[in-house]
Amino acid sequence: MVDWKHTDKNAPIGVFDSGVGGLTVVREIMRQIPNEKIIYFGDTARVPYGSKSKETVTRFSKQIVRFLNTFQVKTIVVACNTASAYALDELERESDIPIIGVVKPGTRAASEVTRNGRVGVIATEATIGSGIYSQYIAELNRDVTVYGKACPLFVPLVEEGLWVDPVTDEIAKRYLTELIDLNIDTLILGCTHYPLIRSTLARIMGEGVTLVNPAYETAMELRKLLSERGLLGDHAPALGENQYQFYVSDMADKFKNFANSIIKYGILSAKTIHIEEY
Ligand code: DGL
Repeated sequence: MVDWKHTDKNAPIGVFDSGVGGLTVVREIMRQIPNEKIIYFGDTARVPYGSKSKETVTRFSKQIVRFLNTFQVKTIVVACNTASAYALDELERESDIPIIGVVKPGTRAASEVTRNGRVGVIATEATIGSGIYSQYIAELNRDVTVYGKACPLFVPLVEEGLWVDPVTDEIAKRYLTELIDLNIDTLILGCTHYPLIRSTLARIMGEGVTLVNPAYETAMELRKLLSERGLLGDHAPALGENQYQFYVSDMADKFKNFANSIIKYGILSAKTIHIEEY
């Protein structure tokens, strides 16, 4: 049993993803809880996770948790739907600090937003195959039906920076037509990369469909969890203190440039580490 009273409330929060997608979650945490320090890890050498097995994604996730724990983080956010779907239960069982994923917060929002009880989820093949969104939503509201659609090409399109582009439009139309025909009124962006092509998705789905971005809900849940345990940072980090630190498993400069196009904070550096050593 962990004694939360003795956990340092000004310790950093660990956040990880297979690559850059988790930055959409980091951006929300920065906005909603600006006093917090963040250690981010993006597994750029081993992305994508969405086409890998549960065993592999779980092994990768455990290595990353061990790396983040070297910073004495007070909590960890799994800012990757695939890792949340495949590994979160096991990570939680083995951890003595709270670990939260992005799937549950998204399902809560979607089941509140839907009016006709027809919710679409777009995500990686792994997340859709795991059936986790249907399972969680069924636990919340049995009258809601979930329609999942794997969209494997969205991750490379986002990573190539083709956020607003005719190619992305064309692929999105092919993926989404099926969900439009199913008359969904709510669409969960079930991969942390997808908020970056939100405007394209919104235009193709049309005004009648509400898009749910789990990044927003996850930051709210994190804030609530830290507050309940008396772990919210109680002062802004001092000038010169490195409030946000970024680590990757490959291509640190490419990551840094990408991160700077998403986060307006000005990320000065990203370091490459050997994640296989953890
Ligand atoms: N960002 C990851 C997710 O939320 C997907 C990217 C990948 O396939 O690694 O599922």
